[in-house]
Amino acid sequence: MTTIDKSGEKHNLMTNDYFWPMKRYQDMHKRSIDDPEGFWAEQAGALAWDKPWDKVLDWKPPYGRWFTGGKLNACVQCVDRHAMSQKSSKVAIYWEGETGDTRTISYADLLHDVNRFAAVLKKLGVQKGDRVAIYLPMIPELVTAMLACARIGAIHCVIFSGFSAQAISDRVNDSNAKLIITASGGYRRGKILALKGIVDDAVAMCPSIEKVLVVKYTDHEPNINPDKDIWLSDVLNDSDNAVVAPESMDATDPLFILYTSGTTGKPKGILHGTAGYMLYASKTLQWAFNPSDDSIYWCTADAGWITGHSYLVYAPLALGLTSVIYEGAPDYPAIDRWWQIIEKYRVSIFYTSPTAIRMFMRNGEEWLAKHDLSSLQVMGSVGEAINPEAWRWYYKYIGYENCPIIDTWWQTETGGFMIAPCAGIQSYPLKPGSATLPMPGVDPVVLDADGNEAAPNKTGFIAIRKPWPGMLLDVYGNPDLYQKTYWSRFPGYYAPGDYSMKDADGYWWLLGRADEVIKVSGHRISTAELEHAVVGHSAVAEAAAAAKPDEVKGEAIVLFVILRNDHVGSVELQKEIIKYMRTAIGTVATPDDVIFVDKLPKTRSGKIMRRVLKAVAAGTSIGDITTLDDQTSVEEVMVAYEELKVAAAKSNNG
Ligand code: WTA
Repeated sequence: MTTIDKSGEKHNLMTNDYFWPMKRYQDMHKRSIDDPEGFWAEQAGALAWDKPWDKVLDWKPPYGRWFTGGKLNACVQCVDRHAMSQKSSKVAIYWEGETGDTRTISYADLLHDVNRFAAVLKKLGVQKGDRVAIYLPMIPELVTAMLACARIGAIHCVIFSGFSAQAISDRVNDSNAKLIITASGGYRRGKILALKGIVDDAVAMCPSIEKVLVVKYTDHEPNINPDKDIWLSDVLNDSDNAVVAPESMDATDPLFILYTSGTTGKPKGILHGTAGYMLYASKTLQWAFNPSDDSIYWCTADAGWITGHSYLVYAPLALGLTSVIYEGAPDYPAIDRWWQIIEKYRVSIFYTSPTAIRMFMRNGEEWLAKHDLSSLQVMGSVGEAINPEAWRWYYKYIGYENCPIIDTWWQTETGGFMIAPCAGIQSYPLKPGSATLPMPGVDPVVLDADGNEAAPNKTGFIAIRKPWPGMLLDVYGNPDLYQKTYWSRFPGYYAPGDYSMKDADGYWWLLGRADEVIKVSGHRISTAELEHAVVGHSAVAEAAAAAKPDEVKGEAIVLFVILRNDHVGSVELQKEIIKYMRTAIGTVATPDDVIFVDKLPKTRSGKIMRRVLKAVAAGTSIGDITTLDDQTSVEEVMVAYEELKVAAAKSNNG
């Protein structure tokens, strides 16, 4: 296939000619690394500033503060400056509900909605710096609520609407939010998810919550507590033509907290700032996906995850694009719902996950043949490495061999893409399964376990040498954890915690987590969090979690469980524990297998031998056990492995 880059030249995207002149990209990348302050100062003209910055970068490791002294408001970047221009009637959002309801929201409408919502927040006493929790389905109010917080300088903390009451309360209590915004319910595969009821259970455990603001959405009557609960529709009417002046924020003021899993039992609050984050998210979208003014952009992520924050809300709106937002499940009412949406809105940029692609692959190409996807020009992937087979299928059947696949490697913590093809700078050859080259401003390196730079084609740990504008500000309320998690493994480097390899052409291959984080359908969950939750079940004495490979989800959860003396393992109990995990954390924590064992493989010092668990969970051999770093003898590991294997076989049969 061929593509035309900005110079007007035609290039073959799949060519193996690595002498391809990538000059434009290389020059830009080199300049961004040699003179980051000069480079980012030039880029920062893309934002609307109330007051220019004094200093581009204040780097006091491990804290990088961007554009210090500058003032601006994130909501203004996304809404006001478009609504006040000739773009005001341009569609910002085509919203499609699962039931088939639709809403079309222009930039002018968005400004109106955000102003009203911001007026409501102010009326409820929300002030600059306050934390506001948001637990909403994918309805336009979710976007409006986030932007309204940004407008008044409140810090939003969006909680994915698949999380349980316990998970909500953990996040609310850590952030000390005083308000939570929810909806009566949401739709998922034709059923109503009673979100307000879940919030009621959570709020009972959250002393900081003063009010619950409820969007009337689904057709059912939730319980309403007149002392705490407020219908949004009641208070919105009073503020119909309200205008709320955007708060002029410091460039380094926090914009949001988003909780994500690490290696500890509790998720950590990743804190992002204003100017650096906004600039980085919007520039990386532009560089990677090359949108134009008439693009129709669709990111399928839920706003409850970082992909939704950066590439469904902040970046596309900051660039003044037209986005599609779809509320529901990809396979409802049938497996071609997404293709229908692409055809209906003539989507040109499509950004989704390998899990989704693999699910569609499994369902066959005939569903695609019913729809015209020829509007697509660029397609992206995120959440985990996309396996070459899925990459090729995506390229062939969805992109008609006509769209570059932008495999974006990044993290909640990085705020935006770190390694991804830069179709918006210059087209260059792609390699299925590789995220290709670093974005401008990103200086990654592969290190071995001792912190020395690894040779090409050698697997090691990816580390980032320089600060970049999208970097997290901190772990909310826990600077020690910030230092320890990201900056102590390789002093002086940001450590993302992924294995990676750089090939002889300088292309990057991201090879999965090097820590105890499991990626289920691209969603992060830590073994510690799962273990912490499952022991809350009355029958469970001790447990360990591991991942096994899954054809669609990438990884699936396996729990090894030791029961209390007065309980015996049964199929019913397995089912009950699976159900329990859904209520303890949420659907992302649903285990595929629960295996009853009498003991867990441990070292003499009491550490769980995770490699043994993983091998048994995956049904593979224990492999190269000599690389175990837990000081356990090969013989001990073999014994533990055999014992666990036998117990697992027994548990699966019974
Ligand atoms: C993994 C999602 C390979 C990686 C934006 C990272 C990927 C973690 C890719 C962050 C990719 C994400 N190729 N691996 N294109 N994208 N990952 O915070 O392990 O939910 O560390 O952010 O996802 O997950 P998070």
